[in-house]
Amino acid sequence: MTPSNAAQHSASFSVAPMVDWTDRHCRYFHRLLSRRAVLYTEMLAAAAVLRGDRARLLAFNAEEHPVVVQLGGSDPAEMAEAAAICAEWGYDAVNINVGCPSDKVQQGRFGAVLFKEPETVAACARAMGQAVRATGRAVPITVKCRIGVDEIDSDEALARFIEMVAVEGVETFVIHARKALLRGLSPKENRTVPPLDHARVHRMKKRFPSLEIIINGGLASIDECKAQLAHVDGVMVGRAAYQTPWLLSDVDPALFGEPAPVKSRLEAVERFMPYVRARLEEGVPLNAMTKHLLGLFHGVPGARALRRVLSEEAPKNPSDIGVLERALEHVRQPVPAAG
Ligand SMILES: Cc1cc2nc3c(=O)[nH]c(=O)nc-3n(C[C@H](O)[C@H](O)[C@H](O)COP(=O)(O)O)c2cc1C
Repeated sequence: MTPSNAAQHSASFSVAPMVDWTDRHCRYFHRLLSRRAVLYTEMLAAAAVLRGDRARLLAFNAEEHPVVVQLGGSDPAEMAEAAAICAEWGYDAVNINVGCPSDKVQQGRFGAVLFKEPETVAACARAMGQAVRATGRAVPITVKCRIGVDEIDSDEALARFIEMVAVEGVETFVIHARKALLRGLSPKENRTVPPLDHARVHRMKKRFPSLEIIINGGLASIDECKAQLAHVDGVMVGRAAYQTPWLLSDVDPALFGEPAPVKSRLEAVERFMPYVRARLEEGVPLNAMTKHLLGLFHGVPGARALRRVLSEEAPKNPSDIGVLERALEHVRQPVPAAG
């Protein structure tokens, strides 16, 4: 591949797939803060998509677009069928998880362990591409992986993995810039202990100029994202986006030169309210939605009191939107600290 046939990829920003965190309520809320962010589902096991409660697993609101579903699995036939179902449900892309290091996932032979078997990922990608095309929808198959796993930890190994999978039509690779250690570290430690190596991801972009290379791992601010975009096509932010979601309000202005969709944190919550009311009427418990707001007022006077009200009272009052209204009072009129 030479630079002359390099495709032009416009910059992208995405919020990472995070189990228990990036559910549909979270994504709806994040969409209120950025029109441009690409949003990901939590990882769904392909087998669950085939045999589980599809409406519960796959339903989302039209406002969430662009939204990518992430699948975990290693059986090409199962992954293909699940991908076709996701395409029919209207997802904008289907992403294969090659990054999750948890024991449960390793037993199912998917996630990061698949980095050691590029041919399996390639077979899945091929079957998924065919199945999705058969639905008549143009839904790309993408991959999220690490820079290495265990002793497989070199530019050459990562490049070989990318090459073998790209041949099957995968054009977008999200690369978490730290390797996974499959024995001895918890999933959480696997997001902090192995050192970040952003430079390896940058080198992959140089090596594969026509592929869309998205970097992930340790990006804590929009300024850091901007700096990365000099080297790669896109940035993906996980924990910082969830824990301090107000940073998402800077994505459209700072990265795309477009106005932010809301002017204040309070406006964001006010725009979330009708959604919360509608879901409460359907029986969704309040806390399932308000838990995603806990970090929104980070650094603002009254934030701690708001968090306390939401985390203590919302679980006990699953259908009372008054809890949210009361919590907001603390950030509207912060009470001066005693003494
Ligand atoms: C609570 C939690 C759940 C996660 N679940 C997934 C997942 O389902 N699929 C996946 O590919 N990565 C998952 N990850 C990893 C993130 O997508 C991301 O790669 C990682 O957190 C590094 O990005 P960050 O430093 O910006 O957080 C998870 C991370 C966290 C914190």
